[in-house]
Amino acid sequence: MMLDDSENKDIWYRWLLSRRDGENTERRKETLRQLSPIRDKVLERADLADSGTLLDVGCGDGLIGLGALESSSYNVIFSDISSDLLEYCRDIVTESGLLNRCRFELLSADNLHTIASDSVDVITTRSVLIYVSDKRKAFSEFFRVLKPGGRVSLFEPINSFGNADRERSWMGYDMLPVIDLYQKVRKGMQREDANVTDEGRNPMIDFDERDLISLADEIGFRHIFLDYHVVIHPPPPSPVHYLYSTPPNPNAYSMQEAIARTLSQEEEKEFIAHLQPLVESGEGKRRMAYAYLYGSK
Ligand SMILES: C[S@@+](CC[C@H](N)C(=O)[O-])C[C@H]1O[C@@H](n2cnc3c(N)ncnc32)[C@H](O)[C@@H]1O
Repeated sequence: MMLDDSENKDIWYRWLLSRRDGENTERRKETLRQLSPIRDKVLERADLADSGTLLDVGCGDGLIGLGALESSSYNVIFSDISSDLLEYCRDIVTESGLLNRCRFELLSADNLHTIASDSVDVITTRSVLIYVSDKRKAFSEFFRVLKPGGRVSLFEPINSFGNADRERSWMGYDMLPVIDLYQKVRKGMQREDANVTDEGRNPMIDFDERDLISLADEIGFRHIFLDYHVVIHPPPPSPVHYLYSTPPNPNAYSMQEAIARTLSQEEEKEFIAHLQPLVESGEGKRRMAYAYLYGSK
């Protein structure tokens, strides 16, 4: 179990530091191990020079920003909408004696008002635009704060890929035999405070890789590259409680929480009797896509 005071923190801190990994320290270590190649690819594509200023938008617990700080001599601006996560990053850099190269800004990706125009050499961001309703505004803010020739490097999951499949399958497992129960649970996983737009759009699934290219292009980036990855594979066999206890994103309840909110004991038994053997034997087909977009102003 994790030893932290995350109960008092905001949803972003609680998800990144404990809920994402079922409140388990070993699983958190494994998640960070799995994320490190993505961090490296984002930084490689940012093509860092000897020195400069890097703005990490939606820095979270510091995956990219701390990576840049440690692997280069750049100054790093950590920005996020979560003051708890900014505080977390500040504590880490203070402890490692790197505070003099850092700045911390409580900002939304679509309103970087405390960052001067033409002042930043590199912008990085990972899995942040999926939470931003006005992605065009975010791109235009990235463009505004970058110096001429400045570079952007971002990674986003493309959740619209395989979305139709989620109507009948959960994390790649076939839910058709228990579809009525699954629909109840699926509804129960949605947090009431999730960030859905006024028009009812969900920013996590309302875009794809082509939209990212168009936005960067229309906003004025001169060089634009996009690497698109699709992975379709059987999920690795895993203990069922791993999946039950882990909300897929900060805007969701875990399946365990959703079951408790929506199913009777009888229904829960039927539901689990269907799902557990699939999860434990890895019998399913998971569909994922993600994009690295990088380029310069
Ligand atoms: C999935 S986490 C990714 C964190 C970090 N970039 C990483 O690579 O691990 C999403 C982050 O985006 C932040 N976030 C959510 N909405 C945002 C917004 N509108 N503007 C800036 N950051 C936002 C959250 O606070 C959280 O830190």
